[in-house]
Amino acid sequence: MEGRVALSDLDDSVSTSVASFAAYERDIERVLITETQIRDKLEELGALIARDYAGRDPLLVGVLKGAFVLMADIARQIRMPVEFDFMAVASYGAATQSSGVVRILKDLDHDIEGRHVLLIEDIVDSGLTLNYLLKNLRGRRPASLEVCAFLKKTGIQRVHLDIRYVGFEIPPEFVVGYGLDFAERFRNLPYIATLKPEAYSDGP
Ligand code: IMP
Repeated sequence: MEGRVALSDLDDSVSTSVASFAAYERDIERVLITETQIRDKLEELGALIARDYAGRDPLLVGVLKGAFVLMADIARQIRMPVEFDFMAVASYGAATQSSGVVRILKDLDHDIEGRHVLLIEDIVDSGLTLNYLLKNLRGRRPASLEVCAFLKKTGIQRVHLDIRYVGFEIPPEFVVGYGLDFAERFRNLPYIATLKPEAYSDGP
C-alpha cells in the first residue's frame, strides 16, 4: 500500500534500528501506564489547561530532556494559542538516585517577566529538581507560575511542592519510556514501564 514500507524494503541500517526497538522490550519488566492511558490523560489535562488559561496566552516551559515527548503531545491537546520555551537541566547522569544537584545546561530564550508560565515536567521524584526550578523561575517575576507534572512518585518528595496538574501518581520505582531514560535509553518507548534488574547492569 502507498505510504507503507515493509521491513524487507528497508536497507540494512534502518532494519537494524527497527529490530533494536524489540531489544529494548526484552528489558521491560512491567508496563505501568499504557499508550491508551497516556493518550486519555493527555486529552483530560489538555482540556483542563485550555479552560484554566483561556484568554491568558501561556508560555509552556518544557524541562529537557525528559519532557520532550510529553511537551509535543500535550501541546496538541491544549486547543488554544500557546508559546514554547525549554530549559535543560542535569540531575541524574546515568544513575537512578537523585543527587540533589541541579545544573542548568540550557536556560530559557524568553524573558518571562509578566508571563503566565506553565512548567511541563516529565516526573517528580524527590522533587528537588522542580523545587530548584520553581525558585529560579519565580525570581524572574512571571505573572503566574504553575506546574504540570505527568508522573509523580507517591510519598517520597523531600520538599513540599504545589503541583497544579498531575497526570499519574505512581509507586516510587524507577520507570522508563515516554521521554524517560535509563542511561539515555528507552526514551522513545510509547508507554511507561519498569525495567528488569538485569537491564541496569547489561550494556546496550
Ligand atoms: P527529582 O529531582 O528527584 O524529582 O528528579 C527529577 C528528574 O530526575 C526528572 O526530571 C527525571 O529526569 C529524573 N528521574 C526521576 N525519576 C526518574 C525515573 O523513574 N526514571 C527516569 N528518570 C527519572
